Amino acid sequence: MRRLRVNIPEREYDILIGAELLRSAGALMREYTPAGRAFVVTDSNVAPLYARILCESLRAADCEASLSIVPPGEGSKSEAVLSGLYAQMLEAHITRGDVIVALGGGVVGDLAGYAAATLLRGIPFIQIPTTLLAQADSSVGGKVAINHPRGKNLIGAFHQPKLVLTDTDTLKTLPPREFACGMAEVIKHGAIADAGLFALLHENEFALTEIVEKNCTIKRHIVEQDELDTGGRMVLNFGHTFGHAIEAQGGFSRYNHGEAVAIGMVAAAGLGEKLGVTEPGTTDQLREVLTLHGLPALPDEAPEWPLMLSDKKRDGDTIRLVLLKTIGEAVLYPVAVNKLLEWLP
Ligand SMILES: NC(=O)c1ccc[n+]([C@@H]2O[C@H](COP(=O)([O-])OP(=O)(O)OC[C@H]3O[C@@H](n4cnc5c(N)ncnc54)[C@H](O)[C@@H]3O)[C@@H](O)[C@H]2O)c1
Repeated sequence: MRRLRVNIPEREYDILIGAELLRSAGALMREYTPAGRAFVVTDSNVAPLYARILCESLRAADCEASLSIVPPGEGSKSEAVLSGLYAQMLEAHITRGDVIVALGGGVVGDLAGYAAATLLRGIPFIQIPTTLLAQADSSVGGKVAINHPRGKNLIGAFHQPKLVLTDTDTLKTLPPREFACGMAEVIKHGAIADAGLFALLHENEFALTEIVEKNCTIKRHIVEQDELDTGGRMVLNFGHTFGHAIEAQGGFSRYNHGEAVAIGMVAAAGLGEKLGVTEPGTTDQLREVLTLHGLPALPDEAPEWPLMLSDKKRDGDTIRLVLLKTIGEAVLYPVAVNKLLEWLP
């Protein structure tokens, strides 16, 4: 088992990464919380696979466990589902001495985390991520949110978990398209911060624990420098502004988030090369790695780039793009919106 520490003053926590950890989750958790009750939130795909193992291990560690199961998918990051969770927890007289446990992908992590951030002004919570995206990215950093009809993640908070417990064996049941979606964020991390990781992905021979550990290390360092996302953390948006246009054009259903980010990264690298910011050849390297991992590099139809202007990274007439200097190094690149649209095909 690997143990990484996230050093945010007064809110430090560990990320435990390994195979077969779920069975010992209760015992492992004991080092981090004395809670006598755990409210486990999961979705209806994950529940039949892993909820029993988790609840048994919690009970074996003298932690009473109750289960809330929400429908799978982005639709659960809603006010209605959140309100249902609040009701269940309040009915069970949850206190700030209890713990909320998110067992699932980024949807469950964001939803249960937001419930934990807000109910009774904050309840400790633990992330047990079960998708590659959640293990390599969303479970670390404390961003939690639900969606609003006007946009994704518009209602949220920063609420760091007490522990992230990552059992890489859970990825064995993940559908291939979901795995590839997580791979897009993994490739992004390599592209912005770790040329060594990127090279490993190019060879396509790696152990998942190693990949997850490298990704958590990157995310941890970025979050330690800029917990509240006002500066350096923004490099994590590489490919996302362009990807947003691709997702919006497809009505948020044709491409999943990872596929849109993949296309977005290629577009951002292409623009970077055109502007002389990005080392020539970088776009080709990105395209190769994405294709190797089953991700698209180009959209099916000509992109409607102006759709990216509804992205939340827009600041008045300026949009803060993330561009690569080279593989492993990103820069923030603010541009005037009208200039950007002139540059794009
Ligand atoms: N908080 C952050 O920092 C952050 C960062 C990136 C993304 N996100 C959010 O993450 C969400 C996407 O997360 P996701 O890609 O994990 O999606 P998800 O949570 O919807 O999971 C994808 C699908 O896989 C299923 N699943 C999960 N684990 C499984 C397993 N082990 N075996 C079989 N099926 C499994 C789920 O039921 C779901 O159908 C988005 O809402 C996004 O906004 C948050």
